[in-house]
Amino acid sequence: MSRAHPAGPLHGDLVTTSEVSAPPNTAVSAELDPLTWSANVARGESGQVTVAGIPVGELSDDYGTPLFVLDEADLRSRARKYVEAFRGSAAEVDVYYASKAFLSSTVARWVTAEGMRLDVCTGGELALALRSGVPGEQLLFHGNNKSAAELDASLAAGVSRIVVDSFDEIEMLARIARERQVVAPVLVRVTLGVEAHTHEFIATAHEDQKFGFSLASGRALQAVERVLAEEHLELVGIHSHIGSQIFVASGFEVAAGRAASFLAKIRDEYSVVIGELNLGGGLGIRYTADDAPIDIGEMAPHLVELVASECARRGFPMPRLAFEPGRAIVGPSTLTLYRVGTVKRRSLEGGGSRVYVSVDGGMSDNIRTALYDADYTVTLANRVSDAAAVRARVVGKHCESGDIVVRNAWLPADIAPGDLLAVAATGAYNRSMASNYNLVTRPAVVSVADGRSAVVLRRETLDDLFATDPGLA
Ligand SMILES: Cc1ncc(COP(=O)(O)O)c(C=O)c1O
Repeated sequence: MSRAHPAGPLHGDLVTTSEVSAPPNTAVSAELDPLTWSANVARGESGQVTVAGIPVGELSDDYGTPLFVLDEADLRSRARKYVEAFRGSAAEVDVYYASKAFLSSTVARWVTAEGMRLDVCTGGELALALRSGVPGEQLLFHGNNKSAAELDASLAAGVSRIVVDSFDEIEMLARIARERQVVAPVLVRVTLGVEAHTHEFIATAHEDQKFGFSLASGRALQAVERVLAEEHLELVGIHSHIGSQIFVASGFEVAAGRAASFLAKIRDEYSVVIGELNLGGGLGIRYTADDAPIDIGEMAPHLVELVASECARRGFPMPRLAFEPGRAIVGPSTLTLYRVGTVKRRSLEGGGSRVYVSVDGGMSDNIRTALYDADYTVTLANRVSDAAAVRARVVGKHCESGDIVVRNAWLPADIAPGDLLAVAATGAYNRSMASNYNLVTRPAVVSVADGRSAVVLRRETLDDLFATDPGLA
């Protein structure tokens, strides 16, 4: 039995957890699939994994474990590729990095240097972006329950797009903009009835979720009308986000078609031509060999062409387009390095056994396995081994039996305390979702490039943790 879907609950569907299949009594391959690991991860001559030329043993000595190791050149090239995919196309296109995937001042500076803007969805993400030097005009603020303080801070900072998500928010934003004597630039978040996860998408009038205004119920049109009626709000465009970890372009295509027809409907009803269409994020990445990501270079021209033809069909001018990728930019760039603490063999019902390999992190640095039943690729990182493969499960150090990092893997039978394990593609929604459960300190993030490493986020200390407890002052 499993809990949910790797990209979040999908109408309550359950995913069957399958066991990995590999022939036992053969050694585990030490090869690193270049499509799963970041571009500068390799196996050095000694058998150790290296990142941009630095052996993981050296990184663990310098920074400790667990450790997020971020391949700078890999991340930057993904950001660049996304932006370049739309260059020279028939539309003006803005690409926003979805900060929620992982944000720090370093990452904010890298992605903006590569031509991206930033999307934020809380006052914290907004403050970090601003303090990192990203100006308000490069920021977009979305979220289903923004506070008055967050809206006020957005207007104060001159955020260039505020994605309104409820009638309450439209009223609140109009009031705050009036008090500030400014006009707030607004996108209306529309639930187009397209929900996409992995290899399929559902196109329905489904609206039983918290985000946006539904198209099918007519509320999206009412929201447009409310925004148009407010003197201190300017309707800049519409926004849609259909899901995450998506491997098929067809969901985006259906969404683009529905959005284009909604833009035409707004024109017909209210005689206004809205100039911007934001299609959100969602491109999937390769966590394991089962995942086959869409190439943005291939999808971009096709999608632009589709919006152009859908608009032309309705006599509507081509809107400015926007996208908000998060996972596809930062996810593959990072691996997590763990130190093995204990190794236990357990008998399986129905025969066979499984080795439980406990590492020094767990659900506090990677909640996705417990939350979404996510799969990951893991490798023995400090050496190679020709021992036979054993069925293994990599688990953390927390007081939860669901504290699993990699549910099903094959590892060498001689895996032992002190070994290092590397887990691939942990850049998105790992450190950003990390917790202090069991009062563990959140791991450091270090970047590596050209044989040099630098701290992106230092490891938390117990003093950081206890600073909020006045009884310990
Ligand atoms: C509105 C919005 N934009 C962008 C993203 C980024 O999605 P991804 O990381 O899958 O690209 C999300 C993620 O949930 C989102 O909710």
